[in-house]
Amino acid sequence: MISIAIDGPSGAGKSTIAKEIAGQKGYIYVDTGAMYRAIGLYMYRQGIDTKDGNSVSPKLKEVSLDLKYIDGEQKIYLNGEDVSHDIRLPEMSMAASNVSAIKEVREFLLDVQRGFAQKNNIIMDGRDIGTVILPNADVKIFLTASPDIRAQRRYKELIEKGMKTTYEEVKADLIKRDENDTNRPIAPLKQADDAVLVDSSNLTQQETVDKIISIIGEKTENVL
Ligand code: DC
Repeated sequence: MISIAIDGPSGAGKSTIAKEIAGQKGYIYVDTGAMYRAIGLYMYRQGIDTKDGNSVSPKLKEVSLDLKYIDGEQKIYLNGEDVSHDIRLPEMSMAASNVSAIKEVREFLLDVQRGFAQKNNIIMDGRDIGTVILPNADVKIFLTASPDIRAQRRYKELIEKGMKTTYEEVKADLIKRDENDTNRPIAPLKQADDAVLVDSSNLTQQETVDKIISIIGEKTENVL
C-alpha cells in the first residue's frame, strides 16, 4: 500500500491539493481534520466545553464516526447523520482545535486513521500524520504558506460556501489555531524530520499540485 502524508497549518490548502492528487492517482483521500471537527460538533451540540478534557473524554463512547465516499467525495457521518456540511461552520474550526488537544480524543482517532492506511492507497492530511499516525509513510509533505495568504484563501473558501464571516475573523481564528495546534503537548503540528517542505505562498494551486506530484513520483519510484 502507498501512503502519503500531508501536514501543515490551517488554510495551507492541504485538502484541496490532496483531493486533486488523490483523483489523479486513484488514491483514497482521508481528511483527518473532518474527524476532529465531527467530535467538536458533537460536544458543541451537547453544550460541553470543548477545551475541558474531563467533560469531553467520557462522552467519546457516545460517538461513532463513519466515512463514506460518494463520487470520490469524503462524507463524514456522526452517529449515522451526514455532518459534512455542519462541520465546516466557522465555530467548528476552534471546537476541533480544542478537542484535538485532548489525549483521549487523539487516541480514539489513531486506530481509525491507521486502519485506513493499512487497507488502501491513501493520501491523508492533518497535523500529525507524518510524525505520529504514519511515521513510515512513503512520502511526507509539510505544506505551508504565509498567514496572510492562508487567511485570504480560507476566507474565499468560506464565502463561496455561503458562510457568514469576515476576513479579520478568519485571520484571527487561523492564528489562534496555529498557536493551539503548535503548542499542545500531544502530537503538535510539526514538520517531520523526513518531510519535504512546500511553501505555496507564491504558487498557484496547479503549481503546488505539480510540485507535490513530482515529489511523490521521485519518492515512490522504487515502491510502485
Ligand atoms: O484541517 P482542519 O482545519 O479541518 O482541522 C481542524 C482542527 O483539527 C485543527 O485546528 C487541528 C485538528 N487536527 C489535528 O489536531 N490533527 C489532525 N491530524 C487534523 C486536525
